[in-house]
Amino acid sequence: MTRGVWITFEGGDGAGKTTQATLLERWLRDEGRTVVRTREPGGTEVGVLVRDIVLHHRGDIAPRAEALLYAADRAHHVATLVRPALARGEIVIQDRYLDSSVAYQGAGRVLDAAQIRDLSLWATDGALPDLTVLLDLDPASARARLDADDKPFDRLEAEKADFHARVRQAFLDLAAAEPERFLVLDASLPADDLAAAVRARVAAVL
Ligand code: TYD
Repeated sequence: MTRGVWITFEGGDGAGKTTQATLLERWLRDEGRTVVRTREPGGTEVGVLVRDIVLHHRGDIAPRAEALLYAADRAHHVATLVRPALARGEIVIQDRYLDSSVAYQGAGRVLDAAQIRDLSLWATDGALPDLTVLLDLDPASARARLDADDKPFDRLEAEKADFHARVRQAFLDLAAAEPERFLVLDASLPADDLAAAVRARVAAVL
């Protein structure tokens, strides 16, 4: 059986990942594909528990502990959900993966980016997506979108502007280092235009 296709969406908070993942999922289902839609943190039952700690714990979490929690969520998610779906030949569409750890825990929390990446690669036995869509947006516009949403901020969203500026730059650096895996899009464009660009790239991967 052919292996499935694994697509991840990355970008800062408020960049529109969920909207684009939903539009892609709809298109692929209309094309008759079997799609598994998931996310990190929180794509499994164990992951939901980890997500609650990393996003909603009141008070500090030591940066290395935070990095390990995301890696633990990822290890379980890849082993029990992503790999089996790919082995069945399905398409996995996922909000966030290891690039988020490198950007948020590496650049944001100022841990060593290479160590963070290696930690995740160890956790997942080297699993990397076929395509990663980076929705790039300047942090001021992203913040305006989050404010308009009127939802309470989680621990990461509540970080200051320079944290989000470092996270954005880290994502762009990751994309520049692996141009064959990444599709970088200007997330200030209309959602329909972005969706068309994503579809064109996915069609080439399928
Ligand atoms: P996200 O899933 O985008 O949440 P929502 O769409 O519900 O607001 O956000 C999860 C948060 O977790 C986000 O602020 C980024 C952060 N995060 C990390 O810091 N490291 C990671 O490895 C991952 C996957 C997420």
